[in-house]
Amino acid sequence: MADYDVIIIGGGPGGYVCAIRCAQLGLKVACVEGRGALGGTCLNVGCIPSKALLHASHSLHEAEHNFEKMGLMGGKPTVDWGKMIGYKDDVIKANTQGIEFLFKKNKVDYIKGWGKITAKDEVTVGDDVHKAKNIVIATGSEPSTLPGVEVDEKVVVTSTGALSLPKVPKSMVVIGAGVIGLEMGSVYARLGTEVTVVEYLDAITPGMDGEICKVFQRMLAKQGLKFIMGAAVQGVKATKSKATVSYKLRKNDKEAALEAECVLVATGRRPYTEGLGLAELGVEMTERKQVKTDAHWRTNIESIYAIGDVIVGPMLAHKAEDEGIAVAETIAGQAGHVNYGVIPGVIYTAPEVASVGQTEEQLKDEGRAYKVGKFSFMGNARAKAVFAGDGFVKILADKDTDRVLGCHLIGPSAGELIHEICVAMEFGASAEDIARTCHAHPTFSEAMREAALACGDGAVHA
Ligand code: NAI
Repeated sequence: MADYDVIIIGGGPGGYVCAIRCAQLGLKVACVEGRGALGGTCLNVGCIPSKALLHASHSLHEAEHNFEKMGLMGGKPTVDWGKMIGYKDDVIKANTQGIEFLFKKNKVDYIKGWGKITAKDEVTVGDDVHKAKNIVIATGSEPSTLPGVEVDEKVVVTSTGALSLPKVPKSMVVIGAGVIGLEMGSVYARLGTEVTVVEYLDAITPGMDGEICKVFQRMLAKQGLKFIMGAAVQGVKATKSKATVSYKLRKNDKEAALEAECVLVATGRRPYTEGLGLAELGVEMTERKQVKTDAHWRTNIESIYAIGDVIVGPMLAHKAEDEGIAVAETIAGQAGHVNYGVIPGVIYTAPEVASVGQTEEQLKDEGRAYKVGKFSFMGNARAKAVFAGDGFVKILADKDTDRVLGCHLIGPSAGELIHEICVAMEFGASAEDIARTCHAHPTFSEAMREAALACGDGAVHA
């Protein structure tokens, strides 16, 4: 008799959600986690703490730039960094403890320690051996650095160190204009740090809709972020108090260097599989060192599954959660499914950037006939009332059938607004379906309807 129906290794958004869903489906389940808190990278050193700092620094920005305009007078707030970090830590604690509560409520066993798969039906944690009919690998990812760059998490930091710097640095070089670099870069820029982003490619946020990227970069530059594009970082030399970043411009091989109090390396993440015993078991991996799975998240060993950042696909907490639910349902004998075509992406800067479905570039490459409906937040009364008129919504729909193929937006609450389109796409809706749906006034959501109208006869407030 196995101790468990399922043991999940990793308590991040993929693993803990999978555990709870397994329990809800009547399976006896345990979740193994070694970091001392549940929630994984997302809750401890990723999404949630960065959102706390983004909120705090955005509030400062509002006080500095918009309060007086609304008749809110008073001195400019000063930053108590210790207190801000304390607020962020409280947010982490409340959320991670919340998951422990959910585990108790759902009767999920929380096994503390680092797990190793010692047989196809066995997970060893310290001296304890646990048997399971099914094992789910949900071990996530870790920051990947560059050759010639040594991270000390003090002067040269990854996203982890950037969330707990001892003070607000006077200057920061961010290597990589991806999601992490831009979110953390804008936190520090708003707190007064001189931020320079060095990016290898010629555009920021690779893979996003090109038009959005251009507008986004312009807005960030207006907020004070400096960009050095088309620059390959060659190495970083650090002392105790500063670091020098050397880079080469791709267009002319010109070499240059930048000095800063802090360097954030944000050049991507890699799957975390250390110490799991996968090689000994013969678990197949991809060329990019991800755990290889089939369409049902099963590895080449029948009883072992894998989900989240450790497998192929976007490294996003909500993608991992969806896979966690689907794999639980699959193990319980149901038909677990994830629609990879409708996974939203959000960048939580101010304004936010959000997208779902295909970009214009992808549709062009495919040779698909499409139409574009665009609407600027300048035409949205609510956005104008709260100084958030910068940005726009773009809906892409099939030219013949009007079916929504994608949506890309930059503007207020973009990360919330995008879900209207996710639901529409899940239901195979047309742009006209959205345009004919009554949207409350005055809301930012009206901009979504206007963009949908622009796919047809035209937006009203354009
Ligand atoms: P990323 O892959 O999004 O961006 C890395 C950037 O670094 C790329 O633009 C790349 O061209 C650049 N780069 C690589 N080598 C370079 C070099 N030598 N010199 C200059 N530039 C170089 O990676 P990032 O931002 O570290 O994020 C990692 C993962 O975490 C991503 O999959 C991201 O989706 C996820 N994430 C998502 C968040 C969200 O959804 N809001 C928040 C934070 C992370």
